[in-house]
Amino acid sequence: MQISVPDVSSKSLAELVSLSGRRAVVTGAGRGLGRAVAERLAEAGADVLVADIHDDLATAVAEDLGARGRGRALAARLDVTDTDSVVAAADLAVRELGGIDIWVNNAGVFPSVPALEMSDQAFDEVFAVNTRGVFLGSREAARRMSGGVIVNVVSTAGFRGTAPGLAAYVGSKHAARGLTRQLALEFAPFGIRVLGVAPTFVPTEGNMAAAAAAGVPLDSEALLSVMRPGPLGRLGVPDDIARVVLFCASDLSAFMTGSTLLADAGETA
Ligand SMILES: NC(=O)c1ccc[n+]([C@@H]2O[C@H](COP(=O)([O-])OP(=O)(O)OC[C@H]3O[C@@H](n4cnc5c(N)ncnc54)[C@H](O)[C@@H]3O)[C@@H](O)[C@H]2O)c1
Repeated sequence: MQISVPDVSSKSLAELVSLSGRRAVVTGAGRGLGRAVAERLAEAGADVLVADIHDDLATAVAEDLGARGRGRALAARLDVTDTDSVVAAADLAVRELGGIDIWVNNAGVFPSVPALEMSDQAFDEVFAVNTRGVFLGSREAARRMSGGVIVNVVSTAGFRGTAPGLAAYVGSKHAARGLTRQLALEFAPFGIRVLGVAPTFVPTEGNMAAAAAAGVPLDSEALLSVMRPGPLGRLGVPDDIARVVLFCASDLSAFMTGSTLLADAGETA
């Protein structure tokens, strides 16, 4: 039986953006973009499970959200590549928060290795997090949701090639965008929307560490060219992306599914 998404046109703007009473899980929320997403969802009134492979980071974020006194915030150790771990996090959300209304597949990795030197294992590890992790999170969320929204944090690298060294990343993010489209169709009968958000480059702990690990000096021309402000005149900050995820997670986007929104400051224009 088809479950139709509600007509929300009689709601006020404040009601549309409110996530009061909704239960959200954000993967990779221990730092970077995921942390900013968890903060905005909590500010909008959601109870949030902050999930990360680094449980110390997740705990610190959940404690910070809790101290701000909005909705409930819990932490969990989650490895998105491991089915048992994803199932455990989804079960925890149901048990402790009472259900799942929003699931954000944000965890991602972006090691830089030239394609000619990339091992099979290095390739598979990127796909395990960025693509399989999106599938596992979406499947386990949808199995527990009664309507709701899944948001996949993709990348402009899901729309085009990018800097040398990111073949696995670009492939994995194109695949995550494909999953967004297909799962939107498969989950629509259950009233579950699936959307993607594709950020442009935003400095985070993760991509600064990836550049350092690849031996790219922070003042190198390669990095500076990526970090150069785009058409909107400044580099992004994590909250620039979190606000777009909030739009996707809220009833403001109630009539959207399957698309990936470019949060790219004109990078691909
Ligand atoms: N920052 C950017 O410029 C940018 C641009 C486009 C897309 N993205 C995407 O945004 C997402 C977040 O990126 P970020 O820059 O905040 O990265 P980040 O490294 O700062 O944060 C990623 C978080 O994910 C966690 N994580 C990694 N592997 C995990 C796993 N297997 N299971 C659970 N958690 C795991 C990490 O511990 C970390 O806390 C990624 O999917 C990335 O591809 C980032």
